[in-house]
Parts: sequence; structure tokens; C-alpha cells
Amino acid sequence: MSDKVVLAYSGGLDTSVAIRWLKERYGLKVIALTVDVGNERDFSTIEQKALRVGAAKALVKDAKGLFVDHFIFPALKADAVYEGQYPLATALSRPLMAKLLVDVAMEEGASAVAHGCTGKGNDQVRFEVGVNALAPELKIIAPAREWGMTREETINYARRYDIPVPVTVSSPYSIDECLWGRSIECGVLEDPWVEPPADVFSWTRPAAEAPDEPVYVEIGFDKGIPVVVDGKKMDGISLIQHLNELAGRHGVGRVDHIEDRVVGIKSREIYEAPAATVLLRAHLALEALTLSREQLRFKERVAQEYANLVYSGLWFSGLHQNLAAYVESSQRFVTGTVRLKLFKGSSVVVGRKAPASLYSYGLATYDKGDEFDPGYAEGFIRLWGLPVRTQAQVQPVAEAEGLSDVMAPGTKRKRRGG
Ligand code: ARG
Repeated sequence: MSDKVVLAYSGGLDTSVAIRWLKERYGLKVIALTVDVGNERDFSTIEQKALRVGAAKALVKDAKGLFVDHFIFPALKADAVYEGQYPLATALSRPLMAKLLVDVAMEEGASAVAHGCTGKGNDQVRFEVGVNALAPELKIIAPAREWGMTREETINYARRYDIPVPVTVSSPYSIDECLWGRSIECGVLEDPWVEPPADVFSWTRPAAEAPDEPVYVEIGFDKGIPVVVDGKKMDGISLIQHLNELAGRHGVGRVDHIEDRVVGIKSREIYEAPAATVLLRAHLALEALTLSREQLRFKERVAQEYANLVYSGLWFSGLHQNLAAYVESSQRFVTGTVRLKLFKGSSVVVGRKAPASLYSYGLATYDKGDEFDPGYAEGFIRLWGLPVRTQAQVQPVAEAEGLSDVMAPGTKRKRRGG
């Protein structure tokens, strides 16, 4: 057993206290690992702080590229949104952090990793299931789950050991940020009846204060991946940052979600996800044009399963590998351009085109140029309706007790009233 532990370090109060606590409680040398997933932070200050509060070593890893290529874009291709509301920002970043914790533990010869999560949330599940999948031999320590200190006591502990207590501690919210979105919880948000106060938001303007003119944005996809915005080729990171800024300015991407946590608690979460909102909407619009009815129907179910597994920390599972392979194969022709209109909090798709579009003007039009032969419809309907007709003859539609008025209004009266 080495005496080193790698701690996922955010620079906040809990993980700063954890550095000291791991030393005091377990006599461990702490390697603080801070992962840059696109949260706007001053990483060199965080690094300095880790050392100042007692870390033996402080590392910052820029993981934005990995995050976009291996987590965000695959989830976008899958149309993954948890419970129809949450585009999974925090949830996608945790398996990446778990992977980096494990990598650093190997490099540094540490025999344990640690994180600052409490015992109520999803993040502890995501970190630990991830680490267990990748390196089951590593011990996992969760100081904030073990130490049993209240907020007040944590602050006192910090003061005692001369750990700077950030002014943001006065902020009543718990906030997590990455390129794909900003998650806000706690404080007054814990009352689901209370409207989120203005100070909850920082990436999005209130709709009322958004520009009075709409803006149009065109997003070009290549096999399900966004690569062009308004005619300009962009790398994934800049593209997402650009859309966060643009859509956020128009008030797009606010989510107020009563969400079901893995541990069985319902919680109230606010999200700001401007880029994710726009990209997910655009991607679905392009799929509507390029996938068949059956592919769309099946993919919708896959999307739900995919979102559930990401949310609940099963990134490194076999199911994920299977679903990801399906999703990948579904994107072969999801190439094209989607045009959206952003205006005062809304983002609406107003146009779409694709080289492999399944939309046929000749088949769809009611004007001249119509290529659809309505003569086929008659025979089709006879065949399509055959089982219904057969069934209705043997099992009369209005027969079931109490259902007659719903199924075939008037039938009962005629039969009984004669
Ligand atoms: N409820 C969200 C999730 O489970 C957000 C969690 C935010 N995490 C945090 N440490 N504030 O993904």
C-alpha cells in the first residue's frame, strides 16, 4: 500500500478541507487532480490553492477535447436527455474524471482515489462505479461522506487549518459547470414551488431581457457531429462555446427539473444548457429528415435507455457499449444543415436539408409535380385495415362494458334503445 491518494479537486471548500482531512485522518499524501471540462475557472489559482492547503502535488488536466469527442458528441448522437429535461452535463463529466483519477493513480503509484461528494447525490455513484470498473484494486475514499460535518462545522474546520473559505460559500447554491451545461441546486431551489431567483442564472439572460430581434443560426452536421456554424467550420470546443454564448444571450436553455436521483430521492435542479438545447434540437430535426420512421421510433427508445445509463453512472457498462454501437451505426446519413431561430428564450427549427434526405417533394406535394399514385391507397388501406375489420366482426367494438361511449359513441343507445 502506498501512502498516496489522488483527490478529484475542484478548488471549492469541501475538496480543500478534504486535502487536510485526508492527511490528518489517514496520514496520506494528497495529489490534487483538477480536470478542466470547460468550466470557466482560473486553474492556476486552483493549483496554487491545492498546494497551499497541503497537497503534496497539484495537477490540472485539460480534458475539454476528450470530453467533447468521447462524451458530449456521442451523447448528442444518442439524443440523450434524462427524463425529457436534463441534457446530462454533470453526469457526462464524471466518468471522464473517474478515468483520469485512475490514470493519475497509476502514474503516481497511488493506491487510493478520493472525491468530495456527499452521500445523497449521483456524482458519488458515477465516480465510484467508474473507478471500480477501471481499477477495482484502488481504494476509494469519500471524505465528505465520512466526516459527518455540517456546513458550519466544515467552515470552522477550514478556519482552524487556515484553509481559505471562498466568498462563494455565502452563495446558497451548489453549482457544477462544464461545456455541456451548468447545474444549480440547493438554497431556495429546494422548495419546488419557489420560482428560481434571478441570481441562479449566469449563462442565460432572462427571456424578457433578450434581444428584441431574433437571430438565425445554421448548424452543419457530419454523421451526427456538428462541425459548421453559419458557414464557418469550427472545432467541437469552440462550436459549443460559441453556441453557449449566442443561445444564452437569447435566453435559450433554461431547465427547471424535478429529477429522480439514483439513490431514490426526488430533487429540484436548475440547468442552463444553451448549446446543448440548440444542438439536441437541431440533431433531432436532421434525424427526422434522414432516418426512416422505424429507425426513429427505435432510436427514441435507445435514447431513453442511453440517458438513464449515463445518468445512473453506468458509462463503463456493457449496455453502454452496445447502445453506443447502435447509435453510431444510425448516424451514417445524419449529415446536413439545420436552421434555427433563437428568440426570447425559444429555439425553433425553421429549416433543414440533407444530401441523403428521405423527404421527397414529388411524393409529398399537393401541387403539380405530384408523383404519388393515389390509386395504390385503396388497396393499401384494405390490407392495412384487414385485421381491424376481422376483429370488429368477431368482437364488436362497443361490446365492452362501460367503453361503448368512448369506443363507438351512439352504438349502445342504438342497440339498447332499439
Ligand atoms: N443533478 C445533476 C446530476 O446528477 C447535477 C449534479 C450537480 N453536482 C454538483 N456537485 N453540484 O447530474
